[in-house]
Amino acid sequence: MLTMQRLIPTGEAARPVTFAEVAQPVPEPGEALIKVEAFAPNRGETFLLERPRPGALPGKDIAGLVVQAAADGSGPGIGTRVVGHPAQGGWAAYAAVPTDSLAVLPDSVDTARAAALPLAGITALRLVRTAGSLAGRRVLLTGASGGVGHYVTELALAAGAELTAVTATPVRGERLAELGAHVVHEVGAAQGPFDVVLESTGGEALPLALSKVRPGGTLVWFGQASRTPVTLDFFQLLGGPECVTIQHFHYAGAPYGSDLSTLVRLVEQGRLHPEIDRITDWAQTADTLVDLRERRIRGKAVLLTGGTR
Ligand SMILES: NC(=O)c1ccc[n+]([C@@H]2O[C@H](COP(=O)([O-])OP(=O)(O)OC[C@H]3O[C@@H](n4cnc5c(N)ncnc54)[C@H](OP(=O)(O)O)[C@@H]3O)[C@@H](O)[C@H]2O)c1
Repeated sequence: MLTMQRLIPTGEAARPVTFAEVAQPVPEPGEALIKVEAFAPNRGETFLLERPRPGALPGKDIAGLVVQAAADGSGPGIGTRVVGHPAQGGWAAYAAVPTDSLAVLPDSVDTARAAALPLAGITALRLVRTAGSLAGRRVLLTGASGGVGHYVTELALAAGAELTAVTATPVRGERLAELGAHVVHEVGAAQGPFDVVLESTGGEALPLALSKVRPGGTLVWFGQASRTPVTLDFFQLLGGPECVTIQHFHYAGAPYGSDLSTLVRLVEQGRLHPEIDRITDWAQTADTLVDLRERRIRGKAVLLTGGTR
């Protein structure tokens, strides 16, 4: 039996994952086996690690090399550099990935930048699509300093939006300001009314953001980073933005390959720039997950498997 290193959940807040020597995955007919060179964690995955389901294998965003092509003949051949979005199991030396959730990487897109793309990038792309035409629209984005936030900002500005981004501090909003966003540090400081609000923090932020939507405008609700549920008062809206639409958004829905290819193309053309705060060896994954959870990462963190293990 061929074995490999894999990060598995511990259930401990201070050290959420640890290495284990396990069997290499055996791909299904529609899956390619990828030698993982880099992977990137997401905030949602840090939540799941708090009470991991038995047998849960974290890891949805990877980039690396095809070492075994899919048995059904689909997808890229052996030796192709790819980025992928498997359902799970990506924080490992090897991962089996459905070929329709892979995109081929050109030489100009390095593995670390590619690994930063999948979940956050696909979410941003689908979120902007859901929001509709943003040309000339006034947009408010909360939780903007994270992985999704940087991609949404660049995509929405490119689509012609006038975007206000909420970040905890000026440093966390620096890159967003460079991209052309108007950065504020509290939802209350955002100057509405907005045609579209993209809200991902929940708690008190959502009702406050909602109060800044223009009558008939839209709030797309795509996260709850504060972990605090939202309370809404019907009557408060009567004195403010009447007849707004609140739209719940979840990015999920395979296949992901075509959206991944779009993201890779945008990076290749210099039209999308993954904001990567940290690139380090995967021996540092546990500390990095804690830093991501505690809002100490701006944009993405990427872990490389080629180092010490
Ligand atoms: N609906 C979907 O399909 C989907 C898909 C992917 C992600 N999400 C959600 O979208 C959000 C962004 O994801 P991500 O991967 O970009 O996460 P991330 O990189 O951790 O970014 C989240 C941002 O939210 C802000 N934040 C964190 N804790 C907060 C708190 N207690 N109160 C207010 N703001 C807080 C932080 O910015 P500051 O520290 O600057 O305030 C952080 O940069 C998360 O809520 C995630 O769960 C949803």
